[in-house]
Amino acid sequence: MILRKAQSHDCRIIYDIRTDSSVLEASLNTASFSYEHHKNWFEKSLKNPNRRIFVADDGTGTVLGVVRFDIEGNSEALVSIFLHPDHRGKGVGTFILAAGGNLLKKEFPAIASLKALIKKSNMASVKLFIKVGYVDHGDSFRFTYPG
Ligand SMILES: CC(C)(COP(=O)(O)OP(=O)(O)OC[C@H]1O[C@@H](n2cnc3c(N)ncnc32)[C@H](O)[C@@H]1OP(=O)(O)O)[C@@H](O)C(=O)NCCC(=O)NCCS
Repeated sequence: MILRKAQSHDCRIIYDIRTDSSVLEASLNTASFSYEHHKNWFEKSLKNPNRRIFVADDGTGTVLGVVRFDIEGNSEALVSIFLHPDHRGKGVGTFILAAGGNLLKKEFPAIASLKALIKKSNMASVKLFIKVGYVDHGDSFRFTYPG
């Protein structure tokens, strides 16, 4: 498995995973949306200098999951993560959250911390973020890069 930047041809699979009922349920905004809407958002996102979308690729081009970073201000980024339902509970989330944070830091050394907004009822997500080093701040989970 590798983590790589999302490309135009990943648009459909990312939409399919993002609109799976389990992912919608875990999201802050639970409403579904059309493929056209997603396509427009995705194409703009790939060109957005303040957004990075990385995908876990099984090595054959198949996308297992997605981690996204939105840079807010100069030193913080908001993180969002979701996996295909068939590839959960196997460490993929741990790998892409940690590796994604490292890739982001390499490209943007000024980023000092990462922020995640998580529903506390989402045990898999809470456990994942804690495992990777995020700290519960009540309204958000935050990771501070060492040094
Ligand atoms: C949340 C999500 C990204 C976790 O990724 P994952 O690959 O399944 O997680 P991992 O296998 O790396 O496991 C990470 C930790 O969470 C725990 N965990 C995983 N699934 C769990 C579940 N269903 N219930 C409770 N704990 C769970 C694991 O045991 C592990 O902790 P441990 O090492 O202490 O045992 C994935 O389940 C997902 O995509 N869910 C739907 C979308 C979502 O909730 N996104 C997050 C919104 S903030």
